[in-house]
Amino acid sequence: MKQGRFIALEGGEGAGKSTQARLLAEALRARGLEVVTTREPGGTPGAEAVRALLLDGVEGDGGEGWNPRAEALLFAAARSDHVHRLIRPALARGAWVICDRYLDSSRAYQGGGGGLSDADIATLHGIGSDGLLPDLTLLIEVSPQVAMERLTLRDTHGSDRIGGRDAAYHARVAQAFSAFAAAEPARFARIDGNGDPQATHAGVLDALAGLPE
Ligand code: TYD
Repeated sequence: MKQGRFIALEGGEGAGKSTQARLLAEALRARGLEVVTTREPGGTPGAEAVRALLLDGVEGDGGEGWNPRAEALLFAAARSDHVHRLIRPALARGAWVICDRYLDSSRAYQGGGGGLSDADIATLHGIGSDGLLPDLTLLIEVSPQVAMERLTLRDTHGSDRIGGRDAAYHARVAQAFSAFAAAEPARFARIDGNGDPQATHAGVLDALAGLPE
């Protein structure tokens, strides 16, 4: 495949997205391709500053956090900066972009988890990022037990403002992700992430082989 593609990795906390993003980037680079790895929220200095507002909280707000609409706007604003300054320019020069979380996280967390409508999230994405969608979204799915085990190992200093929400919130997020994948099978590849990283990576490579030339 000569031309660059935009690949997003999605899933709940502890699914192993970051590891898979790294393994995929290495595999593509080994084929001589230019690969840009990035993440959301973040990826540019402006979006990383918004990330801190979203995930670390704001001093003096009494721990209350953002209301669900403000939260969705901040994610859309961070994404807008990321798309305009990093993702679009990289795709325009023919690079591959591998993004750890993207729009479907807003649909699942601020929509499924937070109660915003999917139409409102799409409107924000239209305003912020001209509705840019990945060529393929890899949904890494793990059982709640596997996710819990991985998070216990990773988050020894506690989770962030969103990761730390209750189990019911995360169950709505997981349900939303699987509903999106079921509704748009051409845009999503569902990958079993319960095995070891190499087994999951093999599933990712299989899914990529299905991309049109
Ligand atoms: P991060 O530590 O990067 O993700 P992970 O837990 O997958 O390693 O934290 C990002 C958090 O932000 C995560 O809890 C999901 C959340 N999020 C949203 O709620 N909406 C979004 O649009 C995005 C991109 C992330």
